[in-house]
Amino acid sequence: MIGRGETKGASAGRTGRGTGRRLAWIGGGVLIAVGVGFAALMFMGHREDESQATRTVASTVTDAARIEQGRYLALVGNCMGCHTAVGGTPYAGGRALPTPFGTFYGPNLTSDADTGLGKWSADDFWRALHNGKGPDGQLLYPAFPYATYTQVSRDDADALFAYLRSLAPVRQPNRDHELAFPYNQRELVAVWRALYFRPGSDAAKAERGEGGNKEVAGGAATDAQLLRGRYLVDGIGHCAECHTPRNRLGALQRDASLSGALIPGQSWYAPPLSGDAVTGLGKWSAEDIAELLQTGISRRGSAAGPMAEAVHVGLQYVRDDDAKAMAAYLKSLAAQGVDARAVGTAPSSTVMETGRGIYEAQCTQCHKASGEGVYPAWPPLAGNLSVTAPDAVNAIKLVLRGGFSPSTAGHPQPHGMPPFGQALKDQDVAAVVSYIRNSWGNAAGGVSLSDVRRVREAR
Ligand code: HEC
Ligand code: HEC
Ligand code: HEC
Repeated sequence: MIGRGETKGASAGRTGRGTGRRLAWIGGGVLIAVGVGFAALMFMGHREDESQATRTVASTVTDAARIEQGRYLALVGNCMGCHTAVGGTPYAGGRALPTPFGTFYGPNLTSDADTGLGKWSADDFWRALHNGKGPDGQLLYPAFPYATYTQVSRDDADALFAYLRSLAPVRQPNRDHELAFPYNQRELVAVWRALYFRPGSDAAKAERGEGGNKEVAGGAATDAQLLRGRYLVDGIGHCAECHTPRNRLGALQRDASLSGALIPGQSWYAPPLSGDAVTGLGKWSAEDIAELLQTGISRRGSAAGPMAEAVHVGLQYVRDDDAKAMAAYLKSLAAQGVDARAVGTAPSSTVMETGRGIYEAQCTQCHKASGEGVYPAWPPLAGNLSVTAPDAVNAIKLVLRGGFSPSTAGHPQPHGMPPFGQALKDQDVAAVVSYIRNSWGNAAGGVSLSDVRRVREAR
């Protein structure tokens, strides 16, 4: 009995231990698989494109010419915007950049040896711009839009570096980013990179005539112009950083490139730059687009909010041939079906009547009863992308807070839109925005009281 019992017990124990061991094996296996998977991710996340890691070809341009080229590219790329504190020395860093993951601070790019790029080589700079890594290989956060700047050519990167090196050194230590866990773990950027970052310069290659470029459709523009336009839009111009939707980890959705997006953490909507007729650039001529980029104003709408800043700080300096190239490339993009998403429920006739009353009292003076505005002083609201957008946030925000188109060489003293946040109750704002979204051929649907509250309470 005892023996059997012992045997039983022992066998039960063996079975137990057997199960335990199996479980331990399985558990271990899973752990190893997870570990291997994680290591693979980390490994992939550290990948670099080393094809041009060191500069080999001696440049033929003079230093002055290279610095001038770099100055131009830095303007078009709006490097200053993120790398200059409000009221601070240009490029000395410190600008707060709010994101859903916390606040980043653009670092010092001046030539100061201790706090800026003074000890960097041109190869270090290329590695940062092209591969998203610091001089010691540390992974850079994609809040620095290197996923886009990776398209910039080595030659242009060298020019940018030469320009930054020509800036007087400013001693200003970098401010630490304020990020929540786990985003404050820099090493984990590897996971993001493994999933979403592909270093390389398709557009740059295409511009040099290496590699196919099938996506660019012909039209009236010449191929060289389209390639140049694509290189600027997809690379240094980083239009996608605002105009392309992102997934929850903040990565650009490549399959929805330039299809319009609510900018995370900013409550501004950047409209589609594709050919959608109502919500995108379908009805804009290439001249309208180039004019907007260079002057902030066009016959179809004016630049507001983050777009006004992008124009003011950089795009207004884009040369005529480059502005035309960008416009031609954007006009070659097909519609992406955003119009279908932008059809809302029409507001009730009571709301439309209230809205019309407010519009006639407050808005016709500038935007006119026809909604056509007066070029170039007052933008049209009929067919305006900020008015017909699937998300009404821009229109609501303009009405609440007012705004200025950017001051540019083309329009040094643009007119402003007065804020109505004090004069109008939320209900009235909802009514007048509902009215402009559904008049003169606009049919974008009404906005609710809670839509207005959401914008009023946002930063
Ligand atoms: C949208 C904002 C934004 C724009 C535009 C931007 N940067 Fe940055 N940049 C950042 C942030 C944020 C960091 C810090 C990243 C980090 O800590 O990993 C950074 C880091 C860098 C670094 C690494 C500096 C260091 O000390 O490690 C370089 C070099 C750089 N940027 C150059 C540029 C250049 C050149 C341009 C224009 C072509 C540019 N940046 C445009 C936000 C921006
Ligand atoms: C920092 C974010 C940001 C960047 C970068 C940016 N845009 Fe915009 N853009 C916006 C926002 C927000 C709007 C909508 C507000 C408005 O009406 O201007 C907009 C509007 C526009 C409009 C329509 C203007 C109007 O009023 O109807 C065009 C055209 C445009 N952008 C082109 C571009 C191009 C081309 C680039 C790249 C060279 C670019 N944008 C880069 C944020 C951005
Ligand atoms: C004093 C003239 C003036 C009045 C009055 C005025 N606006 Fe404007 N509005 C402007 C100007 C100028 C702009 C361009 C501002 C900018 O680009 O930031 C503008 C821009 C806008 C825009 C965004 C257009 C774009 O292209 O980005 C909307 C929407 C708008 N106004 C709606 C209204 C409504 C609704 C009212 C009445 C409640 C109103 N405006 C009253 C001058 C005016």
